[in-house]
Amino acid sequence: MAATFWMMLMLALIPLVYGAGNNPEIQALDVFRKSLVDPDNRLRNWDTSLDNPCTWRFIGCDTGNRVIELGIWTEKLSGQLVPELAQLSALMSLTVSETRITGTIPSALGNLTELVQLNLSGNQISGNIPPSLGNLKSLQELRLQDNRLTGKVPSQIGNMPNLRYANLANNTDLCWDFFPTPISVEPCVLRRHAALAFATFTTVWLLHLAFTNVLAYKRWKRKHLVFEHGFSGGKMVLFRAPVGQSLKSDVFLKETLKLSNKDIIGSGGYGTV
Ligand SMILES: *[C@@H]1O[C@H](CO)[C@@H](O)[C@H](O)[C@H]1NC(C)=O
Ligand SMILES: *[C@@H]1O[C@H](CO)[C@@H](O)[C@H](O)[C@H]1NC(C)=O
Ligand SMILES: *[C@@H]1O[C@H](CO)[C@@H](O)[C@H](O)[C@H]1NC(C)=O
Repeated sequence: MAATFWMMLMLALIPLVYGAGNNPEIQALDVFRKSLVDPDNRLRNWDTSLDNPCTWRFIGCDTGNRVIELGIWTEKLSGQLVPELAQLSALMSLTVSETRITGTIPSALGNLTELVQLNLSGNQISGNIPPSLGNLKSLQELRLQDNRLTGKVPSQIGNMPNLRYANLANNTDLCWDFFPTPISVEPCVLRRHAALAFATFTTVWLLHLAFTNVLAYKRWKRKHLVFEHGFSGGKMVLFRAPVGQSLKSDVFLKETLKLSNKDIIGSGGYGTV
């Protein structure tokens, strides 16, 4: 008897939880909206009383009315990203770019297992890159350039199975300390003991290149990985792994010798400078 009662109560509640206006994706997006300041009222059609958010501006859905795209570009929005965005579990493309977003990258975004593109470039996002982003198994493109990110690039970023493009350029203070890596964001060791470390780093790097160039190249080529990097004050360095064209350490040496000390501390790495 009691069991039947509870079952009927649950059945009665289902429309309240999932019915009009209570779609979990609408709820997540509404939390995001409330964390934003939207002076031009660009989000005015984000009507929470609808069955789904598929007609909302900046939102794209699949045929099952699941949100697969959230793309906000060049809007006078400020405010913060929210962990609730991770509840858009079918999301394949997340772009919040050239806005005035501050705050940090929610580590919950690492739960977006379908995500193929993440573009948070051109904001004022600070803090560390959460290591959980390394869980984004489908991610192919990661754009975090032109922000205020700091700290070590998590080594997990170097091990993402499908990542083929990453741009971390022009952040406040990003550095890396893992090998092998195609990232020439400033090595952390360089920042700590600039002059001494420079010599050590160069030696280690050249040794590393000599031993792992072929191995690393094969790995990069397999992934067609492109990392763009640089940071305020330094040169932008673009590394590309051209298909069918081998990278030689003498090319690296030539490029290195052309750079001044400042440039190397400022950008490092090799490729197209
Ligand atoms: C990422 O954002 C930048 C800056 O707004 C834009 O130029 C670029 O097209 C975006 N890339 C993708 C793949 O959405
Ligand atoms: C990811 O999702 C799981 C379960 O859905 C949750 O326990 C976990 O806290 C989430 N991760 C983050 C970083 O929020
Ligand atoms: C660096 O990023 C900021 C936005 O955070 C942007 O205003 C600035 O123009 C960028 N600088 C370069 C050299 O791209």
